[in-house]
Amino acid sequence: MKDLISITDLTVEELQELIDKALDIIECPDKYAEKCKRKKLATLFFEPSTRTRLSFEAAMLELGGSVLGFSEANSSSAAKGESVADTARTVACYADIIAMRHPKEGAPLVAASAADIPVINAGDGGHNHPTQTLTDLLTIYREKGGFSNLKIGFCGDLKFGRTVHSLINAMCRYEGNEFVLISPEELRVPGYIRKDLLDRGGFKYVETDNWDLLPELDILYMTRVQRERFFNEADYLRLKDVFILTAEKLRSAKEDLCIMHPLPRVNEIERAVDDDPRACYFKQVLNGKYIRMALILKLLGIE
Ligand code: CP
Repeated sequence: MKDLISITDLTVEELQELIDKALDIIECPDKYAEKCKRKKLATLFFEPSTRTRLSFEAAMLELGGSVLGFSEANSSSAAKGESVADTARTVACYADIIAMRHPKEGAPLVAASAADIPVINAGDGGHNHPTQTLTDLLTIYREKGGFSNLKIGFCGDLKFGRTVHSLINAMCRYEGNEFVLISPEELRVPGYIRKDLLDRGGFKYVETDNWDLLPELDILYMTRVQRERFFNEADYLRLKDVFILTAEKLRSAKEDLCIMHPLPRVNEIERAVDDDPRACYFKQVLNGKYIRMALILKLLGIE
């Protein structure tokens, strides 16, 4: 495997290898401090980011490598009309590995075809965000000890939420999982997720517009309603605060519920929830750095 474009580029065995590597990095960080000496990571971000870009950069720095790149399209020659393919081919002359975020679905795949170095999809439009999924999987593994027989609630914008699509895809590769999809009617998961993953895999799932099943969940994955993906501001304003997780609602939830969120958060989780021991979203942020360290090592072929 040269690139990571979709979570399905990794087999279940490779996912476990990455989890095991990340756990070893957490346990013995010194062992990895010089693994990427003289290697360079380019972060090409055509869309805003805090966690993904900075965790990639922190990951490479902690592996002893260096980083270069840009954090907005306007500070690159994309603003002058340069194509994604030409940008990737150019950057491949300066770096050993690329992490790319782009608003257009498929842009990282185009970059991967043009560049002769590994390209990692760091989020493409409403499509995929595989390294967030790796982050989520490491968090689930550390909190729940495995990936099977879990009842997972996804709440919020399930239509445009690329992290939701990638994580459902990943969790459908394990046995016995059940899904509760909580959203307004207009923000339900796309048809291909229902048909190709949930129906075809024979998974139990419920689509609902209320919190009634919260007490049954092992994991609750909250998401932001994404203003930038709406064509119409009025629709965004109508839907943005429909689902807000509060400390009061959590009284009915399991004691070992794992509350996740890819972040950034806007209003969908009340601040008081942050102090609840079940809130795992800032642990997720830290896990993101470790799993990206493991991924960089794998794609660069470094043991
Ligand atoms: N989770 C995530 O992708 O966050 P950023 O947009 O800040 O990178």
